[in-house]
Amino acid sequence: MPHRYYTGEKVEMKIDGQVHELPVVVGTEGEKAIDIRTLRASTGYITLDSGYANTGSCISNITYLDGEKGILSYRGYDIADLAENCTFVEVAYLLDHGSLPTRDELSQFSQMLNDFAMIHEDMLRFFDGYPPKSPPMAILSSMVNSLCSFYPEMTDNPLENIDKMSARLLSKVRTIAAFSYKKSMGHPLVYPRHDLSYCANFLNMMFDSPVKPYEVNHKVVAALNKLLILHGDHEQNCSTSTVRMVGSARVNLYASVSAGISALWGPLHGGANEAVMEMLESIHQGGGNFRQFVERAKDPKDPFRLVGFGHRVYKTFDPRCRIIKQACDEVLDDLKVVDPLLDIAKELEEVALKDDYFIERSLYPNVDFYSGIIYRAIGIPTNMFTVMFALGRLPGWIAHWKEMWDDPAWRISRPRQIYVGPLSRPFVPMDQRGL
Ligand code: ACO
Repeated sequence: MPHRYYTGEKVEMKIDGQVHELPVVVGTEGEKAIDIRTLRASTGYITLDSGYANTGSCISNITYLDGEKGILSYRGYDIADLAENCTFVEVAYLLDHGSLPTRDELSQFSQMLNDFAMIHEDMLRFFDGYPPKSPPMAILSSMVNSLCSFYPEMTDNPLENIDKMSARLLSKVRTIAAFSYKKSMGHPLVYPRHDLSYCANFLNMMFDSPVKPYEVNHKVVAALNKLLILHGDHEQNCSTSTVRMVGSARVNLYASVSAGISALWGPLHGGANEAVMEMLESIHQGGGNFRQFVERAKDPKDPFRLVGFGHRVYKTFDPRCRIIKQACDEVLDDLKVVDPLLDIAKELEEVALKDDYFIERSLYPNVDFYSGIIYRAIGIPTNMFTVMFALGRLPGWIAHWKEMWDDPAWRISRPRQIYVGPLSRPFVPMDQRGL
């Protein structure tokens, strides 16, 4: 379908001696793409791009990212301004509604988050079915998928109910995350409270106990808000593309987000925050010799990678990492926490950034490199780090699912391939296949 970002400009492609014209799309920041949708029909060729490194899957107005300049903005607002001035709930509203909320809008949205904070009591029994050491991401993904059985609001036009579904998801994922932690500890569940803000409520559900009441610490709440905001969206990353791809088959929001949670779990994606802490911890346990980790990361025969380094899109500093690194110092200072892993991380970064291997490949620390140190300082256990990432990324997944559903150019996601297997062979019956 023609779109206003099709400027009329065309590029010519010469294939098998024939010139084909393909339309050009230009984004608001001047990014250009060639629309190749008609290429196969007119030439017989497809494009091949493993890992989709050079493939645009959609036109989107949610997040802008310039990996060469290190710029990231949500709905036109610079990530640094949002992290400095907003709460996570405001940014979730921005991502999902397109504009920052007015005071009234924010109060209505917060009321919805409060109203939807509990999970159906029958779902509590699910927690009992998991073995004690179950990965929290596995629990989160299956519980979120199950939400559609308890809240079956998918109609022919789910966008009619999208505000309700999004608020429900944002609020319940927070409760599920905290409950899964309590369950893993064997402690009684702490229910959400109406008088606490989104982040304070989460921290209270995580840390309050009958024998040690939790006192909300506003510096911890502020740090959590900042971290969640910085994880809010990151355009077509692996988990968000998964949410869009699953949703493109017209699957409900809960199931699509559950698939995104599974994608985020991977150590090359959101799971890296947990892996970074494990790496820093083992450097610490081994006497702080991080240089051998740098050498291993450079060795082409060793599959080891310096976790928390490198990014598909950023070829300079990840702007989120800069903010988190600074917040790390502030939070640890405020909470009077001394963490030797922070010093190791800083030294590791310094050495890597001066090393030719990392310079030549433009490998910089990413969002996951310092985030775990803040989570650890505020008491979040390492196995919950990726769950925290999921909590932060949720508004982004919802915004993309919604945009995909409403896109006039929507079609089921279905890439092609080049087949290189055997040519057609006659079928061999079992008794003629040898021993
Ligand atoms: N340590 C050592 N070498 C690395 C690293 C690293 N962390 N990352 C990339 N490289 C090297 C590769 O070995 C490759 O070298 P080569 O050209 O000699 O073969 C080169 O840099 C390019 O790497 P690719 O794998 O092609 O980069 P890609 O864009 O596919 O991968 C990724 C990006 C997955 C993030 C990668 O940098 C990585 O594995 N990093 C560590 C895991 C991590 O921190 N993930 C979190 C990313 S942020 C997020 O998802 C929230």
